[in-house]
Amino acid sequence: MSDKQFDVVVIGGGPGGYVAAIRAAQLGFNVACIDEWKNAKGGPALGGTCTNIGCIPSKALLQSSEHYEHAGHSFADHGIKVEGLGLDVAKMLSRKDTVVKQNNDGIVYLFKKNKVAFFHGRGSFVKASDAGYEIKVSGAAEESITGKQIIIATGSNARPLPGAPFDEENILSNDGALRIGAVPKKLALIGSGVIGLEMGSVWRRLGAEVTVLEALPTFLGAVDEQIAKEALKAFTKQNLKIELGVKVGEVKSGKKGVSIAYTDAKGGAQSLEVDKLIVSIGRVPNTIGLDAEAVGLKLDERGAIEVDEECRTSLPGVWAIGDVVRGPMLAHKAEEEGVAVAERIAGQHGHVNFNTIPWVIYTSPEIAWVGQTEQQLKASGRAYKAGTFPFLANGRARALGDTTGMVKFLADAATDEILGVHMVGPMVSELISEAVVAMEFKASAEDIARICHAHPSLSEATKEAALAVDKRTLNF
Ligand code: FAD
Ligand code: NAI
Repeated sequence: MSDKQFDVVVIGGGPGGYVAAIRAAQLGFNVACIDEWKNAKGGPALGGTCTNIGCIPSKALLQSSEHYEHAGHSFADHGIKVEGLGLDVAKMLSRKDTVVKQNNDGIVYLFKKNKVAFFHGRGSFVKASDAGYEIKVSGAAEESITGKQIIIATGSNARPLPGAPFDEENILSNDGALRIGAVPKKLALIGSGVIGLEMGSVWRRLGAEVTVLEALPTFLGAVDEQIAKEALKAFTKQNLKIELGVKVGEVKSGKKGVSIAYTDAKGGAQSLEVDKLIVSIGRVPNTIGLDAEAVGLKLDERGAIEVDEECRTSLPGVWAIGDVVRGPMLAHKAEEEGVAVAERIAGQHGHVNFNTIPWVIYTSPEIAWVGQTEQQLKASGRAYKAGTFPFLANGRARALGDTTGMVKFLADAATDEILGVHMVGPMVSELISEAVVAMEFKASAEDIARICHAHPSLSEATKEAALAVDKRTLNF
């Protein structure tokens, strides 16, 4: 086999692609991964949206801004005096960039360790051949490689607002939103989804006056209604202004900032003048430059690559995973699909359970859930029991000084099988894993209720909510 022929070629080095490449290499395949992302110096920056302008940098800024808010507002309650508190946005951003680089470098190391050949450049289909598929790599130089099996993991891009393209100066996507050089006095976000709430929280904590404009009349419609209501109460208390049911009209960007015309929920004409606007109205699958037409690869009506439940595309030997296919746009979903596809190529039974993919919104309070919401269970007519436990009654939450929110269990009325777990409160991004494990093992609420949880810990709220399903909480 020549250097340029591979068993598996992965196009895209985000969480879906790089994990698929590593798993395929572990299974004994000769693997290449092509990724076109460039760092500020034009060099490679593996990790995709997640590492460069998504999960990792947003969590770095969420952490820094939370420290700042605590130092300004909560330390005094703990008897800690902070005098001369200041903000160095440039330092905060450069720390975020360092965290990103550590992750980029980590993947380079993992590729070396697992002997994955890395090509920096854009991968596009040339033609199908007896040896598989020929892929052109357009980088500093142009070269051609061949893969018997191809895994497409080209991710997604931010959806622009019609008539208001991103300039990353005034009208920002998630990319610009993560590198605003000075705290804007006034900031608007269009879309109160995951990015709207996370990025709105970052800049509000740092001192911006933040307004979020949302088209839907319901706040966080995919989240359990009781949890969403509790979260909205908390965000409103923090002065994160969220307007629901609006219709955004003309958006004008000029030297002084951005003006947004919109109709409010009551039909009144409104306008908002802000320094910066973040547009966070969802993401579109990315197949730009892939030359899918060259080999007749089918896309669906959303522009996503059409796949079956096992990530097989319309072409034999071509697979697609992550944000570029159907399903939730989450890094861990992309990773799971990457592992499953590598295993399927090896003849194993790769598996992704879509019912147990956890969701987390990293605001304060955090929001996390897995499984079905109460409104979904009502709509499906399934008989269920619910149990909730507030963090207000949890000793560790009181010690932390953060008693917002609750844990909620939903279990089958007859069998007690856990159908959904929903949380809003401190560190629930970590607590949700227990619920995921329980659901994977088809546990009952009683199973969790009978497990010994460390005291004092936030996880006791999980146990108590499971006890609440049977109306026998011990501490509330
Ligand atoms: P991507 O990460 O988008 O990677 C695709 C890669 O392919 C990119 O490097 C791209 O340059 C490359 N590429 C594309 N086309 C080609 C080509 N033709 N040739 C070569 N290379 C190509 N998810 C979570 O689970 N948790 C979070 O906390 C979270 N936070 C987020 C915060 C923000 C601000 C955003 C925008 C997203 C966040 N997400 C989060 C979503 C997460 O980033 C995505 O679900 C995830 O990155 C998808 O992984 P992927 O591998 O499918 O694609
Ligand atoms: P989103 O789908 O979460 O939210 C978009 C919101 O914009 C929706 O509430 C929608 O009703 C609203 N909207 C759409 N068009 C509108 C318009 N014209 N005017 C006003 N509102 C409008 O999308 P978002 O926040 O852009 O994030 C994209 C994806 O990235 C998420 O769905 C998620 O998959 C991923 N992500 C995950 C994170 C996490 O796991 N913590 C963090 C950030 C992003």
